[in-house]
Amino acid sequence: MSISIRIDGTPVEVDAEPGDTILDALLMAGVGFAYSCQAGNCGTCRCELVDGDVLELECSEHALSAEDQARDIVLACRTQVWGDTVIRKLDAEEFIVHPSRILRCTVASIDRLTHDILRLRLDIRAGGPFSFSAGQYASLEFPFAPGRARDYSMASRPDETVLEFHIRELPGGVVSAGIAGLQIGDAVRVSGPFGTSYLRSAHEGPVLLIAGGSGLAPIRSIVSTLRASGARNPVHAYFGGRAERDVYGESGLRAQVEGFHGSDAHVVLSDPDAASGEHAGPRRFGLVTDAVAADFDDFDGFKAYVAGPPAMVEAATRLLESRGMALRDIHADAFHPAAAPATPEVTT
Ligand code: FES
Repeated sequence: MSISIRIDGTPVEVDAEPGDTILDALLMAGVGFAYSCQAGNCGTCRCELVDGDVLELECSEHALSAEDQARDIVLACRTQVWGDTVIRKLDAEEFIVHPSRILRCTVASIDRLTHDILRLRLDIRAGGPFSFSAGQYASLEFPFAPGRARDYSMASRPDETVLEFHIRELPGGVVSAGIAGLQIGDAVRVSGPFGTSYLRSAHEGPVLLIAGGSGLAPIRSIVSTLRASGARNPVHAYFGGRAERDVYGESGLRAQVEGFHGSDAHVVLSDPDAASGEHAGPRRFGLVTDAVAADFDDFDGFKAYVAGPPAMVEAATRLLESRGMALRDIHADAFHPAAAPATPEVTT
């Protein structure tokens, strides 16, 4: 027996099998639907149940409050369908649909940003246009490593024609080492876009950006998209690295942020002995999350975008939650290095 899941107010209607979760059915049908943990913990997939025979599975009260439940809000990842079902999106921006594309691209340029981060810029030759939201990522596959695609966030704005990625070279990483050897004109296959940690552009409150290492890529895309749109949100940007040699993109970040509607930018080095040479602005020392904690007592009305190493993303999420930010306002991407050749390598 096939069951239908319809999204009220949209043309979207998909088939599901009894017992499928709403999220699984939508994703299997290629419908873009915001999600993150897929385990009932984050609340990203909240939607309103308009009608249907469903079974709600256990979830975290942080993801779905008693108040939510009283309003028939459900978690798409924790709601099984057992009959035809109608849901309604809560916030138009939580629900983005960019067509999935496979692009044939060529290398427009490749250069070094730090001792271990490369900037790769790609021209789209076929398969476009590539529509995405700032903060999303794509999967890149290179001719020297067929079948070993790696995920990288777009550092460029959605309206730019050249795609930019920041690639961290991993010790012993065969793919990232191969990327360093790319030449202008070499072919690259790009598929996407993916990811739910994208800019919610209807939000008018303060925006907190926290980046570690090559996590600056999606943060750069988000802040430059905000600036290009003329949005007036105060932006508080934090970029963390271990030492001075890990810092890149600082001038551009400061130019996009400082002096703009009460916004500020901070570079935070975790090694207090590591400041050296000329740089584009002041330095703070310690963990980037400690700098954020020192600057804010609460995050009322904020949305946060966090990208970088998993430990930093986890620490930032814990901090923001402990200071009152709802999980649904924390949009985080942890960049896990590839564990094995066949495993997608989310490095930026
Ligand atoms: Fe459903 Fe996190 S994706 S609660």
